[in-house]
Amino acid sequence: MIDLRSDTLTRPSPAMLDAMMQAKVGDDVFGEDESINTLQQYAADMFGMEAALFCPSGTMTNQIAIKLHTQAAEEIICHDLSHVYLYEGGGIAFNSGCSVRLITGNNGRFTANDVEENINKEDIHFPRTRLVCIENTMNKGGGACWDLDELKKIKQVCTDNNLALHLDGARLFNALVAKNQDPRLYGTIFNTISICLSKGLGAPVGSLLLGSKEHIYKAKRIRKVFGGGMRQAGFLAAAGLYALQNNIERLAIDNNRAAKIAEVLSKKTFIDHILRAETNIVIFKVKDEYLIENFLLALHQNNIKAVHVGKNKVRFVMHLDITQKDFDSILQVIETMELKQV
Ligand SMILES: Cc1ncc(COP(=O)(O)O)c(C=O)c1O
Repeated sequence: MIDLRSDTLTRPSPAMLDAMMQAKVGDDVFGEDESINTLQQYAADMFGMEAALFCPSGTMTNQIAIKLHTQAAEEIICHDLSHVYLYEGGGIAFNSGCSVRLITGNNGRFTANDVEENINKEDIHFPRTRLVCIENTMNKGGGACWDLDELKKIKQVCTDNNLALHLDGARLFNALVAKNQDPRLYGTIFNTISICLSKGLGAPVGSLLLGSKEHIYKAKRIRKVFGGGMRQAGFLAAAGLYALQNNIERLAIDNNRAAKIAEVLSKKTFIDHILRAETNIVIFKVKDEYLIENFLLALHQNNIKAVHVGKNKVRFVMHLDITQKDFDSILQVIETMELKQV
């Protein structure tokens, strides 16, 4: 089966497994795991940030960031398609006791003006606005990338209004490769950044929270409370380091493949519309006259698995376990597919 459901489905390559087997480990709760310390410093340096914290998941790094920037009864500005709001189990309310102010439209992106308009004025009736969360690339927005100039403007609004700015960068490397951007620029804009090792980069587990030494110290306390302090997890960190050193540049292959698939899909009469495929995700809608189940079944009969993400909408995600042969087969299946109207 060619599995296009997510880029989280990849398995460690033999070279990555080898790096894991060579890892020097210790008890990370004591700060003594050499591989984790190396990974944390490596990631922080990439972004020009002071420190980093290795955690089991992207959900945990996002939730730790939200907790460290806020107090209960404060408010967070984010997009209504964002992972922190939609897919983290209500963690903003459960872990941090905060409310959210949602911005809509433009495939998960908003402007500095939108942020300004959604900041509550000082009044005892209103929750105090405290944090802005941005997701780049934007998963539910079809892997859309943010405009760097707009991010700088948002940063200025945050600085002027004493708001913290967090980046959910689960797939940030796909954006950096697509736009040829320097990660250190992101380090100057955001107070905290969460990056994932287990998505396009192919590690089995792991996410890093990046920030100032002060923020990461606080984050370490919160990670402990969340039960995320691990012991000899350097075997996992070694996979993460391998991923950062070997699997970033190749994301261009995934991004280009997604664009090619979008181009082939755009010629099919059963397709209603496709979100612009800027990175490794293609989200598209099948026309209402066709049954989505029939489309997914036709794929399945040709050994392709994909996921249904809303009314007649499908998501394809490119990743490093898709071979050139698989990719050619996907193109051929789509090119020759005929669907019957209902
Ligand atoms: C944009 C985004 N942020 C955060 C996460 C959470 O990552 P994890 O599954 O490691 O908790 C995901 C997971 O797919 C994601 O797509």
